[in-house]
Amino acid sequence: MITITEPKIEKYLMKLSREADRHILEMERIAKQRDFPIVDRLVGRLLFVLTKLKNPKLIVELGSGFGYSAYWFARALEKGRVVLIDTLQDNIDYAKKTFQQARLAHKAEFRVGNAIERAKDYNNIDILFIDIDKHQYLEAVQKLLANLNDNALIIADNSLWHGRVVGKKRDRDTVGIRKFNEYLFSHRDFFTTVLPLRDGVLVAYKLS
Ligand SMILES: C[S@@+](CC[C@H](N)C(=O)[O-])C[C@H]1O[C@@H](n2cnc3c(N)ncnc32)[C@H](O)[C@@H]1O
Repeated sequence: MITITEPKIEKYLMKLSREADRHILEMERIAKQRDFPIVDRLVGRLLFVLTKLKNPKLIVELGSGFGYSAYWFARALEKGRVVLIDTLQDNIDYAKKTFQQARLAHKAEFRVGNAIERAKDYNNIDILFIDIDKHQYLEAVQKLLANLNDNALIIADNSLWHGRVVGKKRDRDTVGIRKFNEYLFSHRDFFTTVLPLRDGVLVAYKLS
């Protein structure tokens, strides 16, 4: 395993990224307590900035957990909505409760089930956020290409997979992430980059 961001740098960035929102703080506390893999605050802030720049009408999130990453999207949304999808009802129930308490529920739609299948219900997706099991990333993007709007963004967490992408590992998640990265970097309809923040965040811009 390779640490993507030098820990001292990450600590420095976290110190700069002070947060007062009690819902963010509570979700971060719960993630720590349950050892649940949320995107973290630095990536959350990136999602916020990308959403402000893009001003999307529709964000579809594959793998919402209990709503932390979606909360950053919703916070930044001006007029659009974010669709949260997770296989676990408990996760979605928790997210819904948090969004209601934070008065963000009117910007969100909550779905339970297989994210790839549920997401097919949506067209003209402006931001597709992928954070499901890693071996499913390639299938997700291939099956949902036709559902993307012109100039859509695909954002995917864990695109460096703790550095395993450069090792010799052949497990299905590592292979899945490698194939997903190669697919988007070589796709002529996308301009793709990876920000080496936390575990790597892939951002692909659809060229038309
Ligand atoms: C890494 S967590 C998501 C964390 C969340 N994006 C955040 O940062 O707050 C991955 C989530 O994806 C869900 N998941 C995995 N595969 C899925 C699938 N095919 N469809 C729907 N949810 C899935 C899991 O239940 C888990 O809650």
